[in-house]
Amino acid sequence: MAEFFDDKISERLGGINFGKSTVIYKFEIIKRAKAAAKKEHPEMDLIDMGVGEPDWPADSLVVKALSEEAGKPENRWYADNGIPEFQEAAADYLRRVYGLSGLISSEHIIHGIGSKPVLAMLPICFINPGDILLTTVPGYPVTATYTKYLGGEVFNLPLLESNGFLPDLDSVPPPVLKKAKLLYLNYPNNPTGAVASGEFFKKVVDFARTNNIVVVHDAAYSALTYDGYKPLSFLSADGAMDVGLEVHSLSKAFNMTGWRIGFVCGNIKAVKAYGTVKDNTDSGQFRAIQKAGIEALRNTDITQRTIEKYSRRFNLLTDALNEAGFEARKPKGSFYCYVKSPSGTMDGRVFNTATEFSEFLIRESLISTVPWDDAGKYVRFSVTFEADSPHEETSVINEMKERLKKLKLKF
Ligand SMILES: Cc1ncc(COP(=O)(O)O)c(C=O)c1O
Repeated sequence: MAEFFDDKISERLGGINFGKSTVIYKFEIIKRAKAAAKKEHPEMDLIDMGVGEPDWPADSLVVKALSEEAGKPENRWYADNGIPEFQEAAADYLRRVYGLSGLISSEHIIHGIGSKPVLAMLPICFINPGDILLTTVPGYPVTATYTKYLGGEVFNLPLLESNGFLPDLDSVPPPVLKKAKLLYLNYPNNPTGAVASGEFFKKVVDFARTNNIVVVHDAAYSALTYDGYKPLSFLSADGAMDVGLEVHSLSKAFNMTGWRIGFVCGNIKAVKAYGTVKDNTDSGQFRAIQKAGIEALRNTDITQRTIEKYSRRFNLLTDALNEAGFEARKPKGSFYCYVKSPSGTMDGRVFNTATEFSEFLIRESLISTVPWDDAGKYVRFSVTFEADSPHEETSVINEMKERLKKLKLKF
């Protein structure tokens, strides 16, 4: 029998076909494999290398700030587009960490309830039906999803190892360039761990100017860098402020994923457009969380301690993966190690996709990873796995290594 909502769902969500797809997406495959493996091997611990969130909670300084601010009556109101103190703290943070000077905090910066909603709202600022978003794959899909919701089109730029996991901007066909309105980039990159250079960002600015394209740089991982690579803002490239915006987040750099706080910085008119959409979408993050966010932004030693931990874990992880036959290199940024998936096992099993390998790895060894089949077959290991001490980190990685070696993987 027909149900009331059968013909009510918008075409952008699939119309009458909404909810009927039988395609199982990779995250569901992994979730099911995890559940099955835990049931089959209750005696084994699951080693979760798939997590996309910090294992540490927010710093006690930040928690204290929230607990002090939460009960203050003056913090109870709708925060709308934010409090000036947060904008000022964000401008000061960008100056100290990224060397950005001359920012007018009230005009160049507006907060967001995390960077995800900012990335969802930006297409509403720029995309008309038929406009094209250029986006990198594999990658964080929110901007592309909203572009499609709005009747825009998406052109994928593959991130390939041969190009340092940077998009080849010269490969975009002229008819696509003509309709392209927005370019989405993310460095340090999820999932490849690749970083961009100042030279690459300058090339992006030239590309944007020549082709009349707005640049959105997703800087969710920008502060997490290793081994001499310094945090780099797209906005530090000459002319970037004229053509783009950068989206920052406190989620990863300050271990605050669930707190939902980030900000956008960039061209004044573009930031104003975001503010207009935001004002019509949410009423701002709780002031007490913004104030706790200020405490975080002032204490970048929190990020430093987090970096030291991830760096130590990357050293262990890459050694272990290499011993098991992978070609792993420590990234210069993010918390992800992106490695080619094996083609099979010595005893004849074949993996046609990274998803097949990832599923096998969970079922056979209770090691969870995230597979990517968008541009080659790769799996992502994250250094945010649960471990309470350096000693425990070593034992988790050693255990993972022994389990991997037993599989006799073929590359
Ligand atoms: C590349 C990238 N951008 C943005 C986000 C969203 O971060 P948040 O909304 O917590 O700021 C994530 C989260 O995993 C991410 O990986």
